Amino acid sequence: MRQSISVALDKRTYQVDIGQGLLAQAGAILRPLMKRPRIAIVADAQAWALHGHTFETSLSQAGIRWDVIEIAPGEASKSFASLERVTEALLGLNLERSDLIVAFGGGVTGDLAGFAAGITKRGIDFVQVPTTLLAQVDSSVGGKTAINAQAGKNLVGLFWQPRHVLADLDVLSTLPDRDRRAGWAEILKIGLIGDRPFFEWCRDHAAQALAGDMDDLAYAIGQAVAAKARIVAEDEREAGVRALLNLGHTFGHAFEACVGFDEQILRHGEAVACGMAMAFRFSAHQGLCREDDARLVEAAIDAAGLISRPSQLPGGPWSAEALFDAMTHDKKNENGAITLILTRGIGAAFVQKAADAGAVRTFLQKDIHI
Ligand SMILES: NC(=O)c1ccc[n+]([C@@H]2O[C@H](COP(=O)([O-])OP(=O)(O)OC[C@H]3O[C@@H](n4cnc5c(N)ncnc54)[C@H](O)[C@@H]3O)[C@@H](O)[C@H]2O)c1
Ligand SMILES: [Zn+2]
Repeated sequence: MRQSISVALDKRTYQVDIGQGLLAQAGAILRPLMKRPRIAIVADAQAWALHGHTFETSLSQAGIRWDVIEIAPGEASKSFASLERVTEALLGLNLERSDLIVAFGGGVTGDLAGFAAGITKRGIDFVQVPTTLLAQVDSSVGGKTAINAQAGKNLVGLFWQPRHVLADLDVLSTLPDRDRRAGWAEILKIGLIGDRPFFEWCRDHAAQALAGDMDDLAYAIGQAVAAKARIVAEDEREAGVRALLNLGHTFGHAFEACVGFDEQILRHGEAVACGMAMAFRFSAHQGLCREDDARLVEAAIDAAGLISRPSQLPGGPWSAEALFDAMTHDKKNENGAITLILTRGIGAAFVQKAADAGAVRTFLQKDIHI
């Protein structure tokens, strides 16, 4: 069964297909998007070695010619050097502006290839073929593309929406458990932001979904994508409601910054899971939400094999001052004050501009020890 979810952006509206066996049908699905039967594929070397063959077979069946530009797995590929290499390679293929670029891999590939597509010849259409759970539920939808700079992560990039997203559930079978759990954090986030029943479903189905139950995975991914699609359609450039998708990310990014964004030590999703528990504990501490809700969130995070307490998070022990310092450098901050996504309860997140810095500091000093 295939789900097809629309990201409604007027003339740039696109579909996100989610289902099993989609790679084997990719040629037929993508052919109508092409003027001539030719694509350039930017692929994560690992994902390509595992699943490229299925994709290639479907392309040849549809009479499509392709070239592959492989990138090394890992966050280090989101660099100026890789951007230059990929862009020069795309230009070397003599692509025309009406040709199609495919990003085949996880969030790293999507962010890099999407950015390269957006700047090559002032913009070539691209398609996302996300191969990690995180990329399927989060990074492939919404059009944010970026590389990292000396000053921080994702600081150089642009909004460049894909023409289509193909999320094949079968590719997840080769994904390491750790990456699957990290992707689950972003699914749980959707319930925590605005959908309590979905949060409860996630809590009750985490073990089965993470063990590879296809019905559960399809439902979870579909719900997460549909919610993100609604938010992006309403606020493409993050002037308002899209900021809610950063729940857990200000605390989470601070942990990532403290380990030098080394994903071998700490995955983004792991940091975000702990960050979401902290957003709930901080909200409870400020009298905004019930303690009971914070406890339920911790239990759901633990049930997915993720970590809700900083003292147990890989990369510690943490310094409250270093975390606070990292939080003051967050992209969402305005006029030097910290913006936080806080909550009035499960499913009731809101944007808090100019959060009480003193209270955040005091909270961190206590919370890093729990
Ligand atoms: N653009 C956005 O909106 C957005 C949102 C969230 C995260 N991101 C970005 O996404 C990146 C993280 O993405 P990620 O977690 O997908 O990491 P990733 O792209 O580094 O992939 C993780 C690992 O999985 C491997 N892999 C990929 N597919 C596989 C498969 N099917 N089987 C086995 N291994 C496979 C890769 O080789 C890599 O080693 C970060 O750079 C983050 O900034 C972007
Ligand atoms: Zn995230």
